[in-house]
Amino acid sequence: MKAFAAVDVIRAKRDGGALSDEQIRWVVDAYTRGDVAEEQMAALAMAVFLRGMDARETATWTGAMIDSGTRLSLEVDRPTVDKHSTGGVGDKITLPLAPLVATCGAAVPQLSGRGLGHTGGTLDKLESIPGWRASLSVDEITAQLNSVGAVICAATSGLAPADRKLYALRDVTGTVESVPLIASSIMSKKIAEGSAGLVLDVKAGSGAFMKSVEEASELARTLVEIGTAHGVATTALLTDMNTPLGSAVGNAVEVAEAVEVLQGGGPADVVELTVALAREMLALAGISVDPVSVLASGEAYETWCRMITAQGGDPAAPLPQPAHVTEFTAPATGYLSVLDAYAVGVAAWRLGAGRARKEDAVQHAAGIRCLAKPGDQVTEGQPLLELHTDTPEAVPAALEALATAVQITATAPAPKNLILHRVS
Ligand code: URA
Repeated sequence: MKAFAAVDVIRAKRDGGALSDEQIRWVVDAYTRGDVAEEQMAALAMAVFLRGMDARETATWTGAMIDSGTRLSLEVDRPTVDKHSTGGVGDKITLPLAPLVATCGAAVPQLSGRGLGHTGGTLDKLESIPGWRASLSVDEITAQLNSVGAVICAATSGLAPADRKLYALRDVTGTVESVPLIASSIMSKKIAEGSAGLVLDVKAGSGAFMKSVEEASELARTLVEIGTAHGVATTALLTDMNTPLGSAVGNAVEVAEAVEVLQGGGPADVVELTVALAREMLALAGISVDPVSVLASGEAYETWCRMITAQGGDPAAPLPQPAHVTEFTAPATGYLSVLDAYAVGVAAWRLGAGRARKEDAVQHAAGIRCLAKPGDQVTEGQPLLELHTDTPEAVPAALEALATAVQITATAPAPKNLILHRVS
C-alpha cells in the first residue's frame, strides 16, 4: 500500500479537500497498526467533523475499517438478513424480531452490543435470562443459524477493530456527532457480519442519538448509500423516539414484554414496529410470508425458546424481580400529552438498568414500567410509572430525572406516527 505523511492527509481535510481512496485506506490501516499517532487521528477526526466527507470518501472509509479485521462469511443454507437500530429507550424490538424473521424462513445473525448511557443494550437485556450466554464462536453462530435460524450474541473481537479504536478516540475528542463518522462506524461492523441484507431503524427524537428528523434522515440516507456501495441490500425506516417504545424500559422487564409480543400480545407500538421491520427484512430476503400470521400462530415464540436454549438460557425460568418498587403518580387530571423518552431513559439508567462506565454491572431487575402512554386520560394521583430497583437509594436521582418527563393537558394530544418514513 502506498504510504503518505499523516500531516498531509490532515491538512488536505482541514482545508476542505476530498481525500483520495489511497489516502483513506492508508490512514485507517496505519492508525489501526499504531503508525499514525492518536493525536494525528484526533486532528483528522476533527477535520472530518468540521469539513465532512462525501459519499465516495465515506464508503471508502467504511471499507477500510471493515478491512482492518475479518469479514465473516456465514455458511448458511437460507438468505441472511439483519437489523440495526441506532438506539432508543424501551427498544427491545430485536428480541421478538429475530425469532419472527427466522420463523418466516430467513437466517438472522444479530451481533449486538451493551448499553452505555441512557439507551439499553440488547445483550444486557438477554443476560437477565438465567444461564443465557452472549459470547459465541463463529462456528457456534453458523451452527445456530442453520439449526434455529436466529442468533443474538456479542460481536466477535475481529470485527472492524479500527472502529473500536477510533470510536474510543472520538468519544474523548468531541468528534462522535459527525454523520460520516457515525455512519461508517455502524456500517463497518454490520457489513463485516457478512449478512446479505440489512434493515436500519434510524430513531429521531429526544431519546435518540439524532434529535431532529432532518439529522436522522441524513444519517439514514448515508447508511443506505454505504450499504448499497458495499453490495449489501439496505433499507431504512425512520421512527419516532420521543416516547419510550412499549411499556417496559430496562432489562428483565423488556424481555418479559418481548415474550408477550411473541405470544401474540404486547403493546401496539412494539407489535407495529416489529411487523414493519420484519416486512422490510423479508422483502430483502425475497421471502413472501406474512409476519402477522406467524406472530399470531405462536411459532415465533417456539423459535425464541429454541434460540434462548441454544445459548444456555432457560426460557421458562422466572425473570429477576426488583427488591423495591416506587410509584410515580400523575401531578394533575387530564390527558397525558408528553412522556419524554430521554427523561425515562435516564431515570431507568439511574435506577441501575444501565451503566456509567463500560466495566460496571447492570441490575437485571431495574427499570421502569409505563402504566400510561401519551393520549391516555389520567387522574391526579394515579400511578403513571413504576420504578424498579434493587438499590432504593437510587430512587431520588431517578425522580429528579423524571421532574420534566410528563406533561398533562386539558385536551387530547394529536396522535403521532411511529414510523415516519422509509429510505431505500
Ligand atoms: N454507534 C456506533 O456504532 N458508532 C457511532 O459512531 C455512533 C453510534
